[in-house]
Amino acid sequence: MESYIIEENTAKSSRLPARLDLAQSGTGLILGLFMWVHMLLVGSIILGKDAFDFVAKTMELAFLSDNGHGYPIAVFFAVSGVFTLFIIHALLGMRKFPISWRQHRIIRDQMQMMKHPDTNLWYIQVVTGFIMFFAGSVHLYTMLVNPGSIDPFLSADRVVSGNYWFLYLVLLICVELHAGIGLYRLCMKWGWFGGKDARKSRKKLKTLKNRLMIFFFGIGFLALFMFIVIGWNHRHNAGERYQGTAYQQSHAATAGAPAASAVDEMEKTANETGAASHETDMQATAAPPADQAPAHDDAPADAPSPADEAEPVDETAPAAGAAPEHDTEAVQDAGTSDAAAPAAADSHTEADTNDQGSDAHEPTHSAVETQ
Ligand code: HEM
Repeated sequence: MESYIIEENTAKSSRLPARLDLAQSGTGLILGLFMWVHMLLVGSIILGKDAFDFVAKTMELAFLSDNGHGYPIAVFFAVSGVFTLFIIHALLGMRKFPISWRQHRIIRDQMQMMKHPDTNLWYIQVVTGFIMFFAGSVHLYTMLVNPGSIDPFLSADRVVSGNYWFLYLVLLICVELHAGIGLYRLCMKWGWFGGKDARKSRKKLKTLKNRLMIFFFGIGFLALFMFIVIGWNHRHNAGERYQGTAYQQSHAATAGAPAASAVDEMEKTANETGAASHETDMQATAAPPADQAPAHDDAPADAPSPADEAEPVDETAPAAGAAPEHDTEAVQDAGTSDAAAPAAADSHTEADTNDQGSDAHEPTHSAVETQ
């Protein structure tokens, strides 16, 4: 294949490879600078949840809206643009990959022979680029389909409850190495910032590269650590949105629209009451309704449960719905002297309302009423 192209076109050398190199450098430059800005923006989590939320809302162009709510569509378009550049850059980068074992061996041998640091840097570019084919695509696709899910809680939940911490750890190491080395190599390749003394300016640029990489590694690891701490503390409420910053609430207050946090608050209470009502339902199903509840409330704990009541136990036990013992007294009282009835009735009515409104007590109630 290669020999055929060289033999056929030796007279007409094509400009295409150079143009592709230029395109690769161009996309690499934009992505590299994007990554430094991206890391500073993501690094705002180090300054706190409010700072990160403010940055995320600003990236969603929330300052253009009346109620402080952002436009995730803006993030969607930004991610689409970066993803397209990412794919073009990867495609152009694949041209330089050693595609056979033989090519791979040649490069390894040259590296060992030349012991030239910049050649070694090129090999790191190949390995980190290869890993980012996969890790970077996962991250970008996640951002593409969830453009509105960037806030201190949702991002931290993604890192911890969504287990993205491993992806971000690998991606962070790869992207900081790839972006730092890539921008340095661009300066070398195109002679940018090359002073009169090439050797001196190369040394300066290399020192600058190392310092910037240490700086962005520091921000990256610290940001990842912050996400892990926030996500771990928030793991029981994973998926709950951050309530919004003071900026958003004041913004919403001035616009008279309910603050985002109020909306979320309402949603939250709705969920809670839903959960609470569900809970009471559960309790209702779990515990028999009040009127069926045997007057065991004040009876000793080991009193048989209503289920026990249901079971035909020996005749001596009062029939289900039969008035509990002290009730029988009431009945007897009621039976014997009306005078006693109200007193008994009073004590009983309390008991009645508490434990059973069965008809056995009706007379008593009516006796009281007639009084
Ligand atoms: C417009 C495109 C992009 C957007 C909107 C974006 C957004 C984000 C956000 C919001 C986070 C915080 C964690 C999260 O919410 O899950 C994050 C973390 C990260 N992103 Fe991106 N990203 C983009 C492109 C990229 C690209 C192209 C790369 C590298 C190939 C990359 C590498 C990373 C890394 C390594 C982290 C973890 C940072 C850390 O925790 O220190 N991102 N990104």
